[in-house]
Amino acid sequence: SDICASGQAAGKRVFIRADLNVPQDDEGNITEDTRIRASLPAIQMALGAGAAVMVTSHLGRPTEGEPRPEDSLAPVAKRLSKLLGREVPLITDWVEGGFEVKPGEVVLLENCRLNKGEKKNSPELAAKLGKLCDIFVHDAFGTAHRAEATTYGIAETAPIACAGPLLAAEMDAISKALENPRRPLVAIVGGSKVSTKLSILKTLASRVDQLIVGGGIANTFLLAAGKRIGDSLAEPEMVREAQQVMDIMKERGAEVPLPVDVVVADEVSALARANRVSVDEVGPHDRILDVGPKTSAKLAEIIAHAGTIVWNGPVGVFEIPQFAGGTKMMASAIAHSEAFSIAGGGDTLAAIAKFHIEDDVDYISTGGGAFLEVLEGKTLPAFEVLAKRA
Ligand code: 3PG
Repeated sequence: SDICASGQAAGKRVFIRADLNVPQDDEGNITEDTRIRASLPAIQMALGAGAAVMVTSHLGRPTEGEPRPEDSLAPVAKRLSKLLGREVPLITDWVEGGFEVKPGEVVLLENCRLNKGEKKNSPELAAKLGKLCDIFVHDAFGTAHRAEATTYGIAETAPIACAGPLLAAEMDAISKALENPRRPLVAIVGGSKVSTKLSILKTLASRVDQLIVGGGIANTFLLAAGKRIGDSLAEPEMVREAQQVMDIMKERGAEVPLPVDVVVADEVSALARANRVSVDEVGPHDRILDVGPKTSAKLAEIIAHAGTIVWNGPVGVFEIPQFAGGTKMMASAIAHSEAFSIAGGGDTLAAIAKFHIEDDVDYISTGGGAFLEVLEGKTLPAFEVLAKRA
């Protein structure tokens, strides 16, 4: 934004890497366009500054050089045109240049992962990309954890490289939550497996004041605490790691609050009969599919006293009404809290939409894997390369 405000972008070729990797149904209709909307400020800023604007993104994980109809950004070009209120032409075969964009115009460059060398960040491709522009703007937070030609290589070869407004906003929100948080800092990590979130759990355990675990992760923690969990989803081989996480929190003066009551059924189905039981009454064939009301109240209390909340993952199978109570209660506690709240990850965004709390969460990240890697404490390649250029 400084570059646009300073007039440096006027008449210049600005190449924006956005993350327009949006879900589509079988007919190619976009089912959710948050990421497209989130890319608008960068595009509008560059257009407003009088730049000739090129935007690209990946869509899915296509095979380089072998385009299939479903790999095309054509539906995205259409939606972008609608949202910007102007025609956004889609340019194919753009790597060698040969297309024209005038100052004050914007084009969408076809799925960058169709270009040979994109995934591997080939120096040859990066050199060509750098020649296409005067200014490279990295605005793809959702892809900031990938070192590809349009997310890393071009940032080295373009004459000027900088972060776009979305990338900057994501990083500001994340550092507000994790680096300099208002305390107590409460993290909620739900989901099915400890193994896929172990480094997040360990990193957060050494930073947060309270760590709430949910879903299959909580079941493995219950096993570690010596509870019987029947047929519930869990990873017995991760019990030691779960214990380590609890120990880190204990050393820091806090217990991981484990469920005291749960909602069980004998199958994960909308037709299942749900029963609320104490955590000590889980039968051998029961599956724990949500936390019970006593646990929900306890978690809501912790959330009510938080200064900062970081939320990734539901605490139950919230897609099925009889197992949605815990996640709903948590969503409502976050919505009513005075804390600075940040949320990210596919399931979490679906829960936020389901319980209509979009306007009550302070920052909703557009990143899936990127958000998780930030929670792990990793420096994302996008930030590394932009810091190098700065
Ligand atoms: C995402 O959807 O998480 C991003 O667009 C990154 O996609 P990728 O995992 O295919 O790199």
